[in-house]
Amino acid sequence: MNDYIIGNQVIKVKSVDSTNNYAAKLLNQTKVPFGSVIMAHYQTSGRGQRNSVWSSANGNNLLISVILDLSSIPPSKIFYLSKLIALAIKSSVENMIGNEVKLKWPNDILVNKKKVAGVLIENQWKDKKIASSIVGIGLNVNQIDFSGIKSATSLKMITSKNYELDVVLKLLCDKLNTYFEKLINFDYKSIDNEYHKSLKNINTWCDFIQNNNSFNAMVKGVNEQGELMLEFRNGIIKTYELKQITQLI
Ligand code: BTN
Repeated sequence: MNDYIIGNQVIKVKSVDSTNNYAAKLLNQTKVPFGSVIMAHYQTSGRGQRNSVWSSANGNNLLISVILDLSSIPPSKIFYLSKLIALAIKSSVENMIGNEVKLKWPNDILVNKKKVAGVLIENQWKDKKIASSIVGIGLNVNQIDFSGIKSATSLKMITSKNYELDVVLKLLCDKLNTYFEKLINFDYKSIDNEYHKSLKNINTWCDFIQNNNSFNAMVKGVNEQGELMLEFRNGIIKTYELKQITQLI
């Protein structure tokens, strides 16, 4: 049983470089309780995966970082955190749009092949164990203009409705609590089953790019280390880390 509730304390800031940076400072400087959520209206240097930039119009979207205690989770199981966070976001979004949401490895949240949310997880290690984790989530809510980024979407673009960010946050925190409980209870199997069921293009042939070369392979799943398993036409299965390849949507 987990002894804290995600979202019990929400620290709201108008503008910050990145909520993940802010959360890291709080963790270093003060005794911020686990489960705390940092929420920003605007980020001046929002960060995405693979050193990318995460841009978001002021006050339109959910920009949060959640501070979690991972001291009871074996380091070998750390990728389950990534899986459960994606599942919690997927479940929240499905609740709000009433339509199916898919996941793209490792934890992009897609609706109709477009990205509605992204996740940036940063773990803090102590004595070869993961002491804590900062889970940054960017969920596109009311923004309808992404300056030509065709692969982006938002809840409003999907449903034509406006959403209260506090209501979206409450729902997401409820889901995060439900799914995080599974990790605390070492329920890896159910996280894995649901993640693989939700994975876009599982068992289908897809295009990938590695070192500027494209290739085609079948998505077989994601292993315990968080590596993507791909099968080639000759039957050989290879695994890839995030920085090695890009999957074309
Ligand atoms: C990605 O898909 O590339 C990950 C995007 C993560 C963006 C969120 S917004 C809140 C938090 N603060 C950041 O600087 N990044 C994450």
